Amino acid sequence: MKRNRKYPKSRFGWLWENMEGKRVLFIIALFGTALYNILQIVVPHFSRQLVDLFNQVQRGELVMSENEGTFYRLIGLMVGLTLFRVVVVYLDCMAYERVSQSALYRIRNYLYNKIQRQDMKFYSQYRTGDLMTRVTGDLDAVRHNIAWVIRCIVESITLFLSAAVYFFTINVKLALCIVTIAPLIFFIVFRFRKMVAPMHANLRERLAGMNTDAQENISGNRVVRAFAREEYEKEHFDKTNQAYRDTNIKTQKVWLKFFPFVDSIANALPVILLLVGGMFIINGEISVGDYVAFSLLIWAIANPMRMMGNIMNEFQRFAAASNKVMEIYYSEPEIVDRPDAISHPERFEGRVEFDHVSFQYEDGKLPVLKDVSFVAEPGETIAIIGETGCGKTSLIQMIPRFYEANSGRVLVDGLEVEKYKLTDLRKNIGLATQDVLLYSDTIEGNIAYGDSRLTQEQIEKYAKYSAASDFIQRMPEGYETIVGERGVGLSGGQKQRISLARALAIRPSILILDDTTSAVDMETEKQIQHSLRNLDFPCTKIIIAQRISTTKFADKILVLKDGEIIESGNHRELVSAGGYYADLVKLQLGESVVSA
Ligand code: GTP
Ligand code: MG
Repeated sequence: MKRNRKYPKSRFGWLWENMEGKRVLFIIALFGTALYNILQIVVPHFSRQLVDLFNQVQRGELVMSENEGTFYRLIGLMVGLTLFRVVVVYLDCMAYERVSQSALYRIRNYLYNKIQRQDMKFYSQYRTGDLMTRVTGDLDAVRHNIAWVIRCIVESITLFLSAAVYFFTINVKLALCIVTIAPLIFFIVFRFRKMVAPMHANLRERLAGMNTDAQENISGNRVVRAFAREEYEKEHFDKTNQAYRDTNIKTQKVWLKFFPFVDSIANALPVILLLVGGMFIINGEISVGDYVAFSLLIWAIANPMRMMGNIMNEFQRFAAASNKVMEIYYSEPEIVDRPDAISHPERFEGRVEFDHVSFQYEDGKLPVLKDVSFVAEPGETIAIIGETGCGKTSLIQMIPRFYEANSGRVLVDGLEVEKYKLTDLRKNIGLATQDVLLYSDTIEGNIAYGDSRLTQEQIEKYAKYSAASDFIQRMPEGYETIVGERGVGLSGGQKQRISLARALAIRPSILILDDTTSAVDMETEKQIQHSLRNLDFPCTKIIIAQRISTTKFADKILVLKDGEIIESGNHRELVSAGGYYADLVKLQLGESVVSA
């Protein structure tokens, strides 16, 4: 098997690695397959002897009563070995199933861990539906390869070889007449493989595309409904579905092009046997028993030929699927612990410093952060404000090292973030993201996500800090209420408050809030501001906000524009400076006066 240049191991090397613990069983299963196929010779072989025995009796060369023992022995052996073969087939199937399921289990867990450990770049690169296809459909093709394809290959080869060898032991000339056809079949199958391989790769892409469409539509069902796009989505899916079906049919049809040739050759075999074999009997080169053995076993030459198309099809499906699985299997996140990363199990002080940081997304065209420098001393509150798209979220994502600076340094407690172990660093950071995602779990479970040892009182305390306890208590099942996938059933502001409670519940040294109070009313926001100033643990707060009411109390406000800090200072300083921030104050206060 050609080594796949992209990965450290060939497909089969990779499978072998994942059969760990079941490798001996797999080898036994392979031998089992060879054995039960060699045993296919039993019936023709004993039939041949029986026919010759009858013939000799008929011709008077032997007396039946003297050969009854041989007769019953042959019948007995035939029945006994056939029963034995059934047992071997049964055990063999079980063995393949065990090996394949065990490899599947191992690879699936490994993939899941791999996907969990990936960095942000990975998630922006792969679509959810595509990843789901890899851990379901593609993995099943891999299992099918172990349980069925490999077995069929061994089966066809041993069947063909044992029949061929057996034929040669009976009569070399007749065997040659039959077996010389084989290379022709190999040529046809080789041509077929070349044609069908890209089709399987295409088919697999279409399946992933269809799954992605379905997944995005199901999770985005409310958008579909809001825009009354059900018909459009239905038609769109129908088209994807149709394309998948058509590609499937097209792929299957490729073999149909070759099938008539292969089938004609396979069908020609009995005719050749009849013709040449008949002549050989007449010439006395072979006995009638020999002929019977040939004709009872000719299928063992013809069937593997017929099967080859099917096997090759399945093998190409495996090849396409295993490429996709191995891509994730061997992918490595770029942001990992450095070999010399230091352990920091203790709580951080919470000092955050950006030192001339510039950053650009790898796939982006423009720099997102330009020469950003600021310091947040332990316990301080830093507010970041700026128009949409100016780089606020990008900036805070560098603190937990979701992304790394292109130049400059991001320091926590005086040390570059790259120098810490990722888990130590991230355990100290409570992050409430801009795009709130809650798990389909109870409210309690969601708040305690970062620390499952929290007591009920503690959970309630953090809910109170984030001004969430009132609405939670009003819910029919209180903290036990299950919130659906993505928090369906909660308002935007309610979800934000639960996400804030979740960030607070790990008692982080650094709390980062990305527009977390944008959807709550002014009054509730005031309450949250108050609790954030009076937390019962020390904590540096970095708060992205659009409202002056949020930034007002910050120790330092950073005004960001096109990735650059254009103003920094506290509220009073910035208002008197009369710049962008001062304009914003006028604008917002003016608005609130009008709306009041
Ligand atoms: P708002 O949340 O809307 O207030 O904006 P923001 O200030 O948080 O902006 P953000 O940091 O999310 O984005 C800054 C710039 O980076 C924008 O021009 C985005 O288009 C771009 N950007 C954000 N995320 C990505 C990403 O994953 N890849 C690439 N290539 N660009 C990104
Ligand atoms: Mg943002």
